[in-house]
Amino acid sequence: MDLERLTGVVGDARTRIAAASDLAELATAESETLGRRSEIAVARRGIGRLAPDRRREVGRAINEAVGALTAAVEDRRSALQAEAENALLEQDRVDLTLPYGRPARGTHHLLTRTMEDVCDVFRAIGYEVAEGPELELAWYNFDALNTPPTHPSRFESDTMYVEAFDDRKRSGPDELLLRTQTSPMQARFMEKNPPPVYVVVPGRVFRTDTWDATHSPVFHQIEGLAVDSDITFGDLKGTLAHFAREFFGVSARTRFVPHFFPFTEPSAEMLVWFNGEWLEMLGCGMVDPNVFEAVGYDPDEVTGFAFGMGVERLAMVRHGITDIRHFYDSDLRVLGQFR
Ligand code: DAH
Repeated sequence: MDLERLTGVVGDARTRIAAASDLAELATAESETLGRRSEIAVARRGIGRLAPDRRREVGRAINEAVGALTAAVEDRRSALQAEAENALLEQDRVDLTLPYGRPARGTHHLLTRTMEDVCDVFRAIGYEVAEGPELELAWYNFDALNTPPTHPSRFESDTMYVEAFDDRKRSGPDELLLRTQTSPMQARFMEKNPPPVYVVVPGRVFRTDTWDATHSPVFHQIEGLAVDSDITFGDLKGTLAHFAREFFGVSARTRFVPHFFPFTEPSAEMLVWFNGEWLEMLGCGMVDPNVFEAVGYDPDEVTGFAFGMGVERLAMVRHGITDIRHFYDSDLRVLGQFR
């Protein structure tokens, strides 16, 4: 091979090596330009057959060419490897500024919202909101509310009593229980605050009921109490009818029928006309003078009314829920409908 030809072969080989676009193409280019059967390799093997005076010159030129091309292959190989690595990195690239999939958004439980709705209605007409303890003394749950020791609701078949951690022997008004109603806050609130009183009390209450579609051993109530110098049964009716219209809609009609509660006299039950039927919604009445006396109010100076309603019942009627257990099952397919 003469030197001119060699220069041409080397030029072509460089072009091929540079043009290899991935490692496989480069391997082919390498074997075709430098491999055993390449023109250069064949020429190299033929050096011995050249005239002695040319061997040196051609031999050196070929060695230089092989060295240069080998280096070119190596350069190209590192470049292609770097490119391949960058491509992998590029695939794994994370853009931290992109918006991500939003997590499911939580919301307040329907019972919480129902309590807030009720409290809002009363807040808007000047009532304050207070809360009381769930672990209660029999005094506040019963005695102060004109409920004598013989009253059936005090039996263990209805009320869950709690043993005191100090093992103190407790009896009568001193017994500890899980409150069966939010009404004890009537007595607690009046004890702490002089009249006038306008307060609503949302909270959890407990009874020895067994689960079924309409009963739960734990449920919620909202108590209301208004005490002032000249409160009448007309105030009670007007206030609760207003509540019914705010809560169930402007066309809600109400009806009051006689009832009995130990702590009110007279007592009534309020019914609401909803979806074509009269539904019992709450208990109410004029505060019994014995309750005023128990908390240190003068029954000759003040009158008042009280009411108590079940939160689950309100929500069930308002939303057409037919099983009370849906409130506590934590099934998001149910609860998620009330956002
Ligand atoms: N505490 C009663 C109950 O759990 C509900 C009730 C009735 C509350 C009449 C009142 C009331 O304040 O005046 O059944």
